[in-house]
Amino acid sequence: MAERYAKITGWGKYIPERVLTNHDLEQMVDTSDEWISTRTGIRERHIRTKNDTTSSMATTAGQRALAVAGITAADLDLIIVATSSPDYLLPSVASQVQDQIGARCGAFTLSAGCSGWVYALTTANQFITSGMYNRVLVVGVEIISFAVDYTDRTTSILFGDAAAATVLEVSDQPSGILASELGSDGSGALYLYVPDGGSVAPMSQHTIDNNRQFIRMNGAGVFKFAVRTLASSLKRTIYQAGLTPDDIDLFIPHQANARIVEHAARQMRVPVDKFYMNLDRYGNTSAASVPLALVEAIEDGHLKDGDLVAMCAFGAGLTWATVVMQLGTGEISLAHSLFSVERARYLARRTSDMVLDSAQSALLPLYTFLYERRKKK
Ligand code: UT7
Repeated sequence: MAERYAKITGWGKYIPERVLTNHDLEQMVDTSDEWISTRTGIRERHIRTKNDTTSSMATTAGQRALAVAGITAADLDLIIVATSSPDYLLPSVASQVQDQIGARCGAFTLSAGCSGWVYALTTANQFITSGMYNRVLVVGVEIISFAVDYTDRTTSILFGDAAAATVLEVSDQPSGILASELGSDGSGALYLYVPDGGSVAPMSQHTIDNNRQFIRMNGAGVFKFAVRTLASSLKRTIYQAGLTPDDIDLFIPHQANARIVEHAARQMRVPVDKFYMNLDRYGNTSAASVPLALVEAIEDGHLKDGDLVAMCAFGAGLTWATVVMQLGTGEISLAHSLFSVERARYLARRTSDMVLDSAQSALLPLYTFLYERRKKK
């Protein structure tokens, strides 16, 4: 069988009309625009209107992605919807999307917190490269606002609603998804969770009286996990693709907090302006965050045919997922032939990267000590 690659041929988004600004939140909880924008980079987020459902938002984003790919719903072999906020506990929201979009194929929902869409893209890639399917619609969608406590200033300022979709199609060109990593550390379950409404604690009056139907988060804990994971998973996956961070044209990180991205960029010694961010306008849209950033990066011309992209998401679980891919029809040359100047260059760059990493880790205690001493003065 000829080599099979999976590449993105269509993209689309749906953003609910209603905007919730930092100034609006000042009227709702004890916070300020200044605190939110300096600590997170977020200025506003979109919240569902009464006509928006998770399935309707996913369907609209999916239809737009199909139009860009130039195919119809009838051409689809599979639909995967990543979300933590489905229409109902049962049935799977992917089946509503399949029906509303007019497809006749399998459909399933994937839950991996904010990492869901990157997990789903990796899953779709396996269906395509294995030869089972040729065209898969991969959606990230969230009406996370329904699980947000708008009296809790530590979470209400972060989240927003959105949907974004991509069409993944088979190709014989050596491009598309080059490498991916999926990760999970369930020991961190209580860092980010909704206490009630599942089988452990079904909804009850006690749930409502104690706001246990809403998201609870250990912000500082998730922050540390996020910085560590973003930098290390990106690097591992980039190396796995036979590339180095310098080769990547654009990084698309989960849009949780601009400070997380800045820390990770520093750890990777990559200029922060190579990291695409639109979180100022949408906040953290959970499973929709990375695909929404990807769609906007393509739409506003930050990405072009042949560009190398590294995407990384992290969140509840705790989970993380990273994909390195090449858009369009560019050729992957770096490090893919065993004996070549490119390969020698790749190995040299990777070695120097590792030496710098080790030096950075060894010097960290000294830097921390000097920083603490300076702060005390
Ligand atoms: O998809 C993954 C989802 N989650 C994340 O990625 C979240 C990761 N964590 C974060 O982004 C940050 O930890 C937060 C933005 C949630 C919090 O920022 P922080 O700089 O870690 O603040 P903090 O929790 O250390 O709190 C600092 C202070 C506290 O006051 P005191 O105890 O120092 O007096 C908080 O009570 O800021 C206070 N604070 C606020 N003040 C005004 C916390 N939230 C707010 C707020 N407005 N909204």
